[in-house]
Amino acid sequence: MVEGKGIKKSFGDLEVLKGIDLTIGAAEIVSILGASGAGKTTLLQILGSLDRPSAGEVYINGTAIHKLNESQLARFRNKHIGFVFQFHQLLPEFTALENCMLPALIGGSQHKEATNKASELLAFLGLSHRLEHKPSELSGGEKQRVAVARALINDPLVIFADEPSGNLDSKNQEELMGLFVSLRDRFKQTFVIVTHDEHLAIKSDRTIHMRDGLIV
Ligand SMILES: Nc1ncnc2c1ncn2[C@@H]1O[C@H](COP(=O)(O)OP(=O)(O)O)[C@@H](O)[C@H]1O
Ligand SMILES: [Mg+2]
Repeated sequence: MVEGKGIKKSFGDLEVLKGIDLTIGAAEIVSILGASGAGKTTLLQILGSLDRPSAGEVYINGTAIHKLNESQLARFRNKHIGFVFQFHQLLPEFTALENCMLPALIGGSQHKEATNKASELLAFLGLSHRLEHKPSELSGGEKQRVAVARALINDPLVIFADEPSGNLDSKNQEELMGLFVSLRDRFKQTFVIVTHDEHLAIKSDRTIHMRDGLIV
């Protein structure tokens, strides 16, 4: 589903990724662990097409994303990739429902279709009583679930999550991981998660450890 071959990344003189090979299967939850500065976020951004490698290849479901130009990449990302970040990154002036709908509308869905899909997803995530709330009116756990719903709305091939539970208390951390597991079981959703959180890591199908820009 996701394949990286010989991925290198340098920022000026600093070589942050030194040749990463990895393969992530469909319906697999993989956690990437490692100390701060190991290159986890850089790797996730490259796998997720948000950044380009200095060398190497990235394939998502067979598409060579390192070969796409910017507009092809933007379309591919909107259609096929979901993201969840540590700080949810919801738009403050929009409701939970509208935040969740946005990627569908950007992808060309009709308003009604996007509303229905977003409402369904938010209900599945236990948020049907929060559709009209703005992010400032939601708890941390609720905001992160809205972010997960937003990531899911276009039926992505894979969801990339960078420290998704880094800003949650332990109860909400546990619930978020339970949610990822149920999405894998129910929708065969693939996840690549960067985390420090042992709860998340333990429940993953596989963990990858990084040190100094390499997989160890
Ligand atoms: N845009 C950038 N420009 C320069 N250096 C960067 C940039 N992004 C990350 N780095 C450096 O790359 C290294 C790895 O960073 P990062 O991938 O964020 O690590 P992690 O997520 O494992 O903490 C760090 O030394 C960081 O300072
Ligand atoms: Mg990081």
